[in-house]
Amino acid sequence: MEERQLKRKEQIEPPKGKLGVLIPGVGGAVSTTFIAGVEAVRRGLAEPIGSLTQLGTIRLGKRDEYRIPRIKDFIPLASLEDLVFGGWDIYDANGYEAASFAKVLHRDHLDPIKDFLETIQPMPAVFDRRFVKNLDGNHVKPGTNLRAHVEALKEDIARFKEENGVDRCVMIWCGSTEVHLKAEEPHRSVEALQKAVDADDPRIAPSMLYALAALESGVPYINGAPNLTVDIPAFVELAREKRVPIAGKDFKTGQTLMKTILAPGLKARMLGLEGWYSTNILGNRDGLVLDDKDSFKTKEESKLSVLEYILQPQLYPSLYKNYYHKVTINYYPPRGDNKEGWDCIDIFGWLGYPMQIKVDFQCRDSILAAPLCLDLVLFTDLAQRIGMHGIQEWLSFYFKSPMHKQGLYPEHDLFIQLMKLKNTLRYLMGEDQITHFGLDYYMGDA
Ligand SMILES: NC(=O)c1ccc[n+]([C@@H]2O[C@H](COP(=O)([O-])OP(=O)(O)OC[C@H]3O[C@@H](n4cnc5c(N)ncnc54)[C@H](O)[C@@H]3O)[C@@H](O)[C@H]2O)c1
Repeated sequence: MEERQLKRKEQIEPPKGKLGVLIPGVGGAVSTTFIAGVEAVRRGLAEPIGSLTQLGTIRLGKRDEYRIPRIKDFIPLASLEDLVFGGWDIYDANGYEAASFAKVLHRDHLDPIKDFLETIQPMPAVFDRRFVKNLDGNHVKPGTNLRAHVEALKEDIARFKEENGVDRCVMIWCGSTEVHLKAEEPHRSVEALQKAVDADDPRIAPSMLYALAALESGVPYINGAPNLTVDIPAFVELAREKRVPIAGKDFKTGQTLMKTILAPGLKARMLGLEGWYSTNILGNRDGLVLDDKDSFKTKEESKLSVLEYILQPQLYPSLYKNYYHKVTINYYPPRGDNKEGWDCIDIFGWLGYPMQIKVDFQCRDSILAAPLCLDLVLFTDLAQRIGMHGIQEWLSFYFKSPMHKQGLYPEHDLFIQLMKLKNTLRYLMGEDQITHFGLDYYMGDA
């Protein structure tokens, strides 16, 4: 991305008109919690807790200047009032029925906005059971011709824009986790990808067809699942060509959020790690999908990588060379969306003496994911408006497996990720970077 092509400061105009939010998997637990939550906030019935764009502040200048605006007052983001939702699902339940099925939000939250939720009617999905083995819906586009599917999705996007009077859209994948795919020949370039689509190549997942339709329609694509989708050279190239942002992958919630909070602290204090055993029970539809070993492998890879990058065993072999890291997810229907995650962390300190940390996080998966969807949609729309196309590494804060440029390693430490995000905002608005160098406050002291 060339700096001179970026709009900065006063060139960044306030967003005009409505912003379309297009969601593959619009009938899922995360999507319905996100959409219902935005509407509840718009009607003054709830607070957008967990959302950095809505509640977060940003310090500007020196500590003694006391300039700490809200992020949404600092940089021009779309307002919640201007969001219009649409999307696709393999089930035809409307937003109210789907949210009731997901059982994340109580009736007290859903019933007052029933009229609105009932207007969210999913468009028929592009679906292939080979990629999500434990689901079988019938609200799907007919046929198996991949090119025809891409064209149908592009028509859906165009129709959605027209019907809703929307000229900017963002697509955010909140659909199921697909089976594990490795980057192969069809994923290496735009040309290879297009050929593979024309040849109905089995290595092209449905999520890639949505991404192709989005990018070809000039719509940014955010990947909330660990699916490979846009994390391949073909889409990086296409995003650059079409000047569209792409971001991913896998929302950082629950156990991995805890891991990327705790691990940087252990490393900061030079405490060693013997092993980190993580297990979860989860009973929602996502848990059912992850009960298939091929979908779980996609998730497992995403969850395992974080410690390696945070702890840097190559730099600290005596502390982190041989730790044992295990992650499991068990499908347990009684818990629904209320996942429970246990971590047993074996650490060692001074002279090698062992200690243990136990974490029992009784979380609510979609409650943690919904505000991330909101922030990602608003920040990605900002990126699009100012010409920041391609991989949005500054949004790593939101992802378990942040996409990154080839040759760079990803940044997983939550606190570095937050600094990266805020420094990007400061840069865009012509403010100084904050380095947390504090000596300058004391330089004049005797
Ligand atoms: N909730 C979290 O904390 C969290 C965190 C990280 C990632 N994720 C990921 O987000 C995604 C959504 O999670 P969820 O809990 O809402 O799951 P969910 O099963 O409730 O929702 C997924 C929805 O996607 C639909 N779907 C599947 N394939 C589709 C396709 N090809 N086109 C359109 N719709 C399709 C399903 O019918 C379902 O309604 C999953 O991939 C999950 O792994 C969730």
